[in-house]
Amino acid sequence: MKKKVILAYSGGLDTSCCVAWLKEKGFDIITYTADLGQGINFAQLSKKAKDCGVSKVYIQDLKGRFLKDFVFPALCAGAIYEGKYPLATALGRPLIAEGLVEAAHKEKANYIAHGCTGKGNDQVRLEVSAASLDKKLKVVAPLREWGLKTREEEIKYAKAHQIEVAASKKSPYSVDLNLWGRSIECGILENPAQEPPEEIYQLTKNPLKCANKPDYATIEFARGIPVKLNGKGLAPVALITKLNKLAGDNGVGRIDMVENRLVGIKSREIYEAPAGVALHLAHQELESLVLDKESAQFKKVVADRYAQLVYNGLWHSPLRAALDKFVNETQKKVTGLVKLKLYKGSCVCVGRNSPHSLYKKELATYEAGDKFDKSAAEGFIKIWSLPYQK
Ligand code: ARG
Repeated sequence: MKKKVILAYSGGLDTSCCVAWLKEKGFDIITYTADLGQGINFAQLSKKAKDCGVSKVYIQDLKGRFLKDFVFPALCAGAIYEGKYPLATALGRPLIAEGLVEAAHKEKANYIAHGCTGKGNDQVRLEVSAASLDKKLKVVAPLREWGLKTREEEIKYAKAHQIEVAASKKSPYSVDLNLWGRSIECGILENPAQEPPEEIYQLTKNPLKCANKPDYATIEFARGIPVKLNGKGLAPVALITKLNKLAGDNGVGRIDMVENRLVGIKSREIYEAPAGVALHLAHQELESLVLDKESAQFKKVVADRYAQLVYNGLWHSPLRAALDKFVNETQKKVTGLVKLKLYKGSCVCVGRNSPHSLYKKELATYEAGDKFDKSAAEGFIKIWSLPYQK
């Protein structure tokens, strides 16, 4: 009997070549595709896989699960890698791993496979997650083995195996897309000194071409989770989709960074995350109103660790579970409204409000009604300065 393998399949050049390669190695191939909002035509994808000779095609809509169980916990944690990247790709991988493992169990397959390169983060994320769910599953990573060095070689290989490559040949970029954002690398972007060409962007309008008046996004949170946009209650997928459009139309969410990969190299990455950028800002602004000073400052440390853990493929780890408990405790009061102004690429908070606000006008004001006890300041300063007096 042939060995059965579940291949994480996107329909792109890499994973299409993986199908041909696995076939040559004698595998019975089942493809697995998770719909995380990458907006591709799944009927076409399914046809393409079948045309390549796979025996079964799984396509699973995981958009709701992605947002509820992965994106929102990371949003509540404030997880932004190296101060810039909202982790769209990194958050998708552990969920795809869950889907692969579930499919492998259903199909009684002993192998899973993916089309990640041998020097990226994604191979680590998928394999660490898969191993932490079921270490008995064996992993096949054709791109680490097959010796095809360039995209041109892959295209040749695909053609030799009757795999259609028309669309992928044109773009020199490697792109990953889901509801939380879009990651773009390769081609001219590999020169960190070079400004990205306008053609790479899809979710965000060129700020120069945006409307001459701002849009507002009022976001209502309940315990840290966004539940309403501009007064309308929306389920997670609808809310993120709408906000991506609204913020993206105003040029919000472009990120250009050089990041430290888990495998020790620096890489230049472009991201588009209109909803991600807007929501992280709104969430931080609401927290600034409702969290006490010590919790707020400590939470920044947690946010950074949480981001590193997600980036480094440790979603399925005890530390993540423990940090989630801490984060959830802090979110009890993160309920309220934040008003964002979106204008030609900028996203700024222009108002926030919460029933749990700790802001006290009678203490902050410089006008009539001031209740701050200034006479106590003198003694406070005397003691506060004690360690530094000469
Ligand atoms: N550098 C980013 C990350 O590690 C994005 C990876 C993008 N993946 C891709 N297949 N283009 O999360």
